[in-house]
Amino acid sequence: MKSATAPIVLGIETSCDETGVGIVRGRELLADAIASSVEEHARFGGVVPEVASRAHLEAMVPTMHLALDQAQLSLDQVDAIAVTAGPGLAGALLVGVAAAKAYAMSLGKPLYGVNHLTAHVAVDRLVHGDLPQPCVALLVSGGHSSLLLVPDVAGSVESLGSTVDDAAGEAFDKVARVLGLPFPGGPQIDRVAREGDSASIEFPRGVVRDAAYSFTFSGLKTAVARWVEARQRAGEAVPVADVAASFQEAVADVLSARAIAACRDRGVDTLVIGGGVAANSRLRTLAETRCESAGLRLRMPPPKLCTDNGAMVAALGSLLVEREVEPSLLSLATDSSMALA
Ligand code: KG4
Ligand code: ZN
Repeated sequence: MKSATAPIVLGIETSCDETGVGIVRGRELLADAIASSVEEHARFGGVVPEVASRAHLEAMVPTMHLALDQAQLSLDQVDAIAVTAGPGLAGALLVGVAAAKAYAMSLGKPLYGVNHLTAHVAVDRLVHGDLPQPCVALLVSGGHSSLLLVPDVAGSVESLGSTVDDAAGEAFDKVARVLGLPFPGGPQIDRVAREGDSASIEFPRGVVRDAAYSFTFSGLKTAVARWVEARQRAGEAVPVADVAASFQEAVADVLSARAIAACRDRGVDTLVIGGGVAANSRLRTLAETRCESAGLRLRMPPPKLCTDNGAMVAALGSLLVEREVEPSLLSLATDSSMALA
């Protein structure tokens, strides 16, 4: 929906280290304000939940004002408030949900608690229009790696398979640490890999027995660590760019191959890729090439909308409003391990 009369929905995201406030009018993106606490976590090599919660508290109101300024709207023009209710860090989620309740109650507007993972898929409607029903979604983030069959992103999402150990983003972050690259490692590996040869080292492609749509990255992560340690023990320089490129190739290979197999097996013609790892340049090009050869349509939000943001929450919220889904109660609870829609 792209009309001036479509409902204005504000989305709040605080499940990890990004405080995001997005505003949409129907499917039109009006604002996407983000404050990140990532630098406060960098020296710990991962997100520290207490630090993240505190940062959300400080950033919530300024980020809200920034979003309203970007959209050139005042709060009373907002028709509904959507918020990530889970999954995510418990304390971090609480900040967003408490803020969303306060805004909804004081404005007398409906409140929608949404699933973070589903929102990563739904955000694509802001860029490429409503998702075809059904589609297959590859959701790859710091906490999750799943293949989903999505008959309807507003209400019916089925898990086809997921990682049995590390999430793809987690593997990027851990391998980056082995290579001495700063946190978060995904964007760093993506950057240094551009200078490397992705065919220089043949890292394993983990297969989960009897689970065609599942992933495993712990063997790959260990293989990279062993390879690097062996060079260091031998007193040889580690070819960081080659290791990064070869590791990235292994991840992009299994993710794209399994996602395409899921589309083919289920007779679905559209693949959507979302989540922070969907920002990865190699995954994007490999998925494009392979989808084209397989005759599949590929939809990926631009990298900025792949990592956590408030616009994705607003995008899903506005779909729920459009479908006249019953809003959440003001007693809405956070659920750090919330299941899919
Ligand atoms: O979706 P997201 O922002 O947060 C979660 O919901 O987890 O994903 C964050 C993850 C991190 O592990 C980060 O290293 C990874 O996404 N990531 C990337 C890239 N940009 C972010 N991984 C690979 N290549 C990238 N360009
Ligand atoms: Zn996420």
